[in-house]
Amino acid sequence: MKTIGVFTSGGDAPGMNACLRAVVRTALYEELRVVGVRRGYAGMLEGEFQKMDHTSVSNIIQFGGTVLKTGRSEEFLRPEARAKVAGLLRDEGIEGLVAIGGDGTFRGAHDLWAEHKMPIIGVPATIDNDVYGTDATIGYDSAVNTAVQAIDRIRDTAISHERLFFVEVMGRQAGFIALEVGAAGGAEMILLPEYDTSVEEVCETIKAGIAQGKTSSIVVVAEGDEEGGALEIARKVHRLTGIECRATILGHTQRGGNPTARDRVLASKLGAAAVRALMAGEADKMVGMAAGELSLTPLADTWGKKKPLDERLYELASILAA
Ligand code: F6P
Repeated sequence: MKTIGVFTSGGDAPGMNACLRAVVRTALYEELRVVGVRRGYAGMLEGEFQKMDHTSVSNIIQFGGTVLKTGRSEEFLRPEARAKVAGLLRDEGIEGLVAIGGDGTFRGAHDLWAEHKMPIIGVPATIDNDVYGTDATIGYDSAVNTAVQAIDRIRDTAISHERLFFVEVMGRQAGFIALEVGAAGGAEMILLPEYDTSVEEVCETIKAGIAQGKTSSIVVVAEGDEEGGALEIARKVHRLTGIECRATILGHTQRGGNPTARDRVLASKLGAAAVRALMAGEADKMVGMAAGELSLTPLADTWGKKKPLDERLYELASILAA
């Protein structure tokens, strides 16, 4: 293998730049040529390639976002689009790809391998952490820390005004962020898409807290909760109890900002491991970190198998919040 390509795709995540740096520098160390693909699959379809050298990734380890840019491509779902991409990659001399992204990115990578035998190694990078085969995805720790800082600030004003706050964190399909943020922020309740909690139960818990002497509370709500987002749940709780409620949506603040040290190190290890996996002839797999060890997981498992939530943390958070 003489030339590899690298791209970022799907929702950006803090640490993607650190991962790009690791991929490029490891490949150059191994005397490979490296081509960056801009704007994910959308850019790949337009042949947006750029040569990467040592300086292309200088001074980026500390920044959020991705210098190669990213996106979600509907077009790439069509087999004809993937055939075009396979031709463009081969014309560029690319013999293997490192795909940095989440499950949507890996589905596309798997199809490109299945249909055109383009070897691809995935690196899990999404704030959601909803990828099977790795304990943590790149960006998750940073997003959680950003959200916890926000909760701490909201807690100050909640205490001062003796208010009930509903704080919505990201995670349309998965409650990993909400659970971790809720546990670290001492939330009175955590509402997740994985567990059904009715609005009536929320009202009962809040009223029980008040009866016990609580003068303010914070409920962390995952974006994808079955009862709706923070705004909707706050409205319902106010209607049922008459308690004054406030709602805050943290939204894309969780996607930006400097990656934590933990994310930078994870990104560095996984980026380097992806290059080495390609060189060893691996394909259609994702590099991950499980119990402190590097691992390889078939791409189809990364979305086909479900990564479990830490149920014991959920129970503990609820006991400690009472
Ligand atoms: O997958 C990452 C994520 O931030 C989810 O938590 C969120 O639901 C989604 O992306 C938002 O996507 P977009 O930035 O395209 O609105």
